[in-house]
Amino acid sequence: MQSEIRKKLLDAFSNNEDQYLSGQTLADTIGCSRTAIWKHIEELRKDGFELEAIRNKGYRIVKTPERVSADEIRLGLKTKYLGQSIHYEDAVDSTQRVAHRLAYDQSMEGTVVVAEEQTLGRGRMERKWYSPKYTGIWMSIILRPKIPLPKAPQLTLIAAVAVVQAIEELTELTPQIKWPNDILINGKKMTGILTELQAEADQINSVIIGMGINVNQKLEDFPIELREIATSLAIEQGVYFSRSAIIRSVLTHLEKLYFIYIEKGFFPIKILWESYAISIGKTIKARTLSNVIEGKALGITDDGVLRIEDHSGEIHYIYSADIEL
Ligand code: BTN
Repeated sequence: MQSEIRKKLLDAFSNNEDQYLSGQTLADTIGCSRTAIWKHIEELRKDGFELEAIRNKGYRIVKTPERVSADEIRLGLKTKYLGQSIHYEDAVDSTQRVAHRLAYDQSMEGTVVVAEEQTLGRGRMERKWYSPKYTGIWMSIILRPKIPLPKAPQLTLIAAVAVVQAIEELTELTPQIKWPNDILINGKKMTGILTELQAEADQINSVIIGMGINVNQKLEDFPIELREIATSLAIEQGVYFSRSAIIRSVLTHLEKLYFIYIEKGFFPIKILWESYAISIGKTIKARTLSNVIEGKALGITDDGVLRIEDHSGEIHYIYSADIEL
């Protein structure tokens, strides 16, 4: 919820476009203390507003954060299904939760939920997903594939390939995939994908693909504990990117790959996925819930299951694990 002071502050700036407004003028207009004004100015900066502050003159907004409204995403989107229905939210707990509700209510295939901020963004293995306002892409996509339940994890791999292709199309960066769902740039995580299901008696009702793509964060925007392991496109390339353009590109690539998958099966996707994979041929450690397997990553099976050959030559099939390179 936006506070009343913040709303009035933004109104004051829009009513006096390009003019400097002093802390005292703002405090008098809004009817609050100068300390409150200062606090809200700092909040706006954290949310991506650029404010110029000049002594004896005051503050002026020089740049507002880019939004990703449904209209902006739709402008130029040429997909048939994906993104034809877009639910845009300013702030939600998790786009996955919203998408689950919509999927349950029989929303159409390809429905997309996008939020500017998630207060309870979630990752794999019950982890939190840090999703601050206006900086990244926090999106969930509803698919309704007619495939057997055990094949559902393949969709995570398809989604990972789509994100890599979109990033390659719009940036000069070379992302790589770490099985099953992490997309890294220069060894740091730029995207995470969480695939969840609604099914009844072995029958898939919907697959919800959640993507968290770090786009415009600066290094200091990440909490200290993430700075060594996470990155954003802006950090890696040194420029800001349009989040709507990235969303459009991801949806376009995902739809193409999804159609190939439905028509020809997983094999063509597997070839693409392996060409982007960071770990194939390398020695890795797979930490599963029950043990740790160390060995050479041989590739994935036609079902998207990771194959590791340990030092004694035994082949292990990994369905769910954390991978250490
Ligand atoms: C992971 O790497 O652990 C997966 C992270 C997935 C994060 C995305 S952000 C959009 C969607 N909503 C969520 O709560 N999670 C996913």
